[in-house]
Amino acid sequence: MATSVSVETLNPKVLRCEYAVRGEIAIHAQHLLQQLERQPGSLPFDEILFCNIGNPQSFGQKPITFFREVLALCDHPNLLDREETKSLFSTDAITRAKKILAQIPGRATGAYSHSQGIKGLRDEIAAGIASRDGFPANADDIFLTNGASPGVHMMMQLLIRNDRDGIMCPIPQYSLYSASIALHGGALVPYYLDESSGWGLEISELKKQLEDARSKGIAVRALVVINPGNPTGQVCSYMYDVTRELSISSFFWGVHQPQVYQENIYVTNKKFNSFKKIVRSMGYNGVDLRLVSFQSVSKGYYGECGKRGGYMEVTGFSTTVREQLYKIASVNLCSNITGQILASLVMNPPKAGDASYDLYEVEKDSILESLARRAKAMVFAFNGIDGITCNKTEGAMYLLPRIHLPQKAIEAASAVNKAPDVFYARRLLDTTGIVVTPGSGFGQVAGTWHLRFTILPPEEKIPSIISRFREFHEEFMAQYRD
Ligand SMILES: Cc1ncc(COP(=O)(O)O)c(C=O)c1O
Repeated sequence: MATSVSVETLNPKVLRCEYAVRGEIAIHAQHLLQQLERQPGSLPFDEILFCNIGNPQSFGQKPITFFREVLALCDHPNLLDREETKSLFSTDAITRAKKILAQIPGRATGAYSHSQGIKGLRDEIAAGIASRDGFPANADDIFLTNGASPGVHMMMQLLIRNDRDGIMCPIPQYSLYSASIALHGGALVPYYLDESSGWGLEISELKKQLEDARSKGIAVRALVVINPGNPTGQVCSYMYDVTRELSISSFFWGVHQPQVYQENIYVTNKKFNSFKKIVRSMGYNGVDLRLVSFQSVSKGYYGECGKRGGYMEVTGFSTTVREQLYKIASVNLCSNITGQILASLVMNPPKAGDASYDLYEVEKDSILESLARRAKAMVFAFNGIDGITCNKTEGAMYLLPRIHLPQKAIEAASAVNKAPDVFYARRLLDTTGIVVTPGSGFGQVAGTWHLRFTILPPEEKIPSIISRFREFHEEFMAQYRD
């Protein structure tokens, strides 16, 4: 007889896996949302503000017109034969849709494609990477995926053999990495970012953690660099040092570099450099260095996270390893075609001189400028609240304020078996309707507590969110003052 299915008999790797951004606080928020729908007025607030997740269009961010025109035409090729289409869609969108459709089997977005994605779209992505970095890129190295997340899972699946295989991750890190390491049964080897230097990295810390892991018999298989940082919001300036350090180490390694926020940079003194550009400019070629870079249509100024598009660029692996990766990709058949098209569009947007260019630039700039203003306003406001300190958001879509909690609050949390930041976030939600992700879901230096907020709420709402938050915080601190 089959073993009964109960929590006790489930795969322990699943039970160990935690995904904080959709964890306890987010689940409770969904219940409160339903309650508000059923019984308006039954809670001390009348809306739930989902500041826990980088979901741009849920905050009203408009999609880029050119991208959506191309998608609409690809989904409805019959429109291309109609006279009125010429007045409804830009000529660029029509030309691009025709070009894309010519590359899709059966000219149908409902058809399966090659497991790495449509070759013509991969060519465009490779050309986009090459022109961004100034170094060649190859369509055969591109794997199109449903967002960056499945690419990360695929790499974890490929690399992790057992719990002695380690993946080095920044702490704090985006929960996808800890969750996928847990699901695949590996060990997370932390390296701590330094909050006091704006979430910078001391290379001695990386070395120390690496040696420590090795002394425990862990084989470090890969290093994750998240640039710009999530949840930390820094634009990494330590990639040269990391490359220099790792190139003299003699272990098998690859680098996962999720760069899903490559467009989201809000400071003028730093710019996005892909890891590939850095290692190539330092003279390392594909053979010296195994590098996997992830990009996604979810973030940037396009914010198309529900469309699930992305790619990974895989360099430096032997043909036989690549064949195994292709096999894993082929088990999923292919990623969705809409996401594939979007990934090609974000890597090959309208250029100067194109009919759509002016509108595209206006839309893009207004979103990025607004995000920069929101980041600045939120960081400024948090730093003006007693008991809170917050590093600048240089990039990505988050800020990670540190809450300096009194001992009594920590004890009250422990009495109900909760981490102090979870205890605080739960109380914040119940009192104000503001949903945040507690820092313990990303990892943090022991004894420090944080909250991750997205900077995405519309500008006109930020003052009221901050004042609701401030009022809550002051009451909380007064209740637990030591
Ligand atoms: C660093 C990082 N990597 C990967 C992802 C995954 O995003 P998606 O699967 O939507 O592309 C995210 C999303 O927030 C992220 O912040």
